[in-house]
Amino acid sequence: MREINAVITGIGGYVPEDILTNEDISKMVDTTDEWIMTRVGIKERRILRGEGRGTSYMGIRAVKQLLEKTNVSPEEIEVVLTATTTPDHHFPTTSSIIAYQTGCKNAMTFDMQGACAGFLYALETGANYIRSGRYKKVIVVAGDKMTAITDYTDRSTCPLFGDGCGAVLLEPTEENVGVMDAILRTNGTGYSHLIMKSGGSAYPPTHETVDKHEHFVFQDGRYVFKYAVSYMSDVAEEIAKRNGLTRDDIAWIVPHQANLRIIDAIAKRLEVSEDKVMINIQKYGNTSAGTIPLCLWEWENKLKKGDNLILAAFGAGFTWGALYLKWGYDGAKA
Ligand code: ACO
Repeated sequence: MREINAVITGIGGYVPEDILTNEDISKMVDTTDEWIMTRVGIKERRILRGEGRGTSYMGIRAVKQLLEKTNVSPEEIEVVLTATTTPDHHFPTTSSIIAYQTGCKNAMTFDMQGACAGFLYALETGANYIRSGRYKKVIVVAGDKMTAITDYTDRSTCPLFGDGCGAVLLEPTEENVGVMDAILRTNGTGYSHLIMKSGGSAYPPTHETVDKHEHFVFQDGRYVFKYAVSYMSDVAEEIAKRNGLTRDDIAWIVPHQANLRIIDAIAKRLEVSEDKVMINIQKYGNTSAGTIPLCLWEWENKLKKGDNLILAAFGAGFTWGALYLKWGYDGAKA
């Protein structure tokens, strides 16, 4: 029997229409467009407005687009798995809302949380369902409404985040394409350096936790930056090496979009020129689990069957990883 692998056969995406510019942010906190552009590389980000709209609002739209593009009926979908740090609620799961609203009524659904590395964790998990041979159509959704947990009085974090969501369809293949390899890591040393402290079972919400702004992202930026650069570059290099990929073999690097300086460092380590790196941080900011699928969504029409892609991400935990993807179709025809 030939080995079954999982391949991405389509991609959908959604970003909200409302734009929050650096000028808007400089009216809220003591910062400038120049500081944000030179230290981070973000010009603007999307913000999901509207009462009661959570991550599912964006996920539903990304999945509807995916189903339309791939011409797949929602009833054929067997798994809907969502990677998010900003679920609509503690429960029910965001996946269950997305599946219900998109008509995926025969799917098992669950959420995963791998912070900014969430898409890589979820993609490898979804791929394993396909590789098991028991599932033929798996949707992996990944995205966040980061503005819901962003403190717009904290200048060190509020310029960084935006809202957005992507979704991919995974199907079986016996061809030499798909999710070829993954290195996924965790190291708890990041625990207190990148955290939303309260609102969970350790520190349930109280008036005091609200007053102390503990329901927002706290980040020790300098500490996180150091690890993001070294850990992400290490795994990206390791996965390229162990799959025998030289810089000429790599068509695209798809890095998590947290800071342009981190992205540049990874490209430098892999000795890949800037025109082979997907970068859209300037217009969307850090959408956490959404950054990598939103890059794939935007670059889809440039992707060709057989292209070698290295995906790399780093987030709270710390969790991080790199994934080697051999693209499965000509994106220009999608
Ligand atoms: N405007 C102006 N000045 C600012 C701002 C701002 N928005 N924010 C911070 N500063 C000041 C600081 O107060 C500090 O001033 P000081 O030297 O007088 O104390 C100075 O700028 C430098 O601050 P740093 O925090 O050292 O700034 P840095 O260059 O490290 O940039 C940043 C901060 C952008 C957060 C960077 O550290 C970073 O990108 N970190 C990693 C982010 C990341 O990868 N996160 C993981 C994924 S996110 C997730 O999982 C949810």
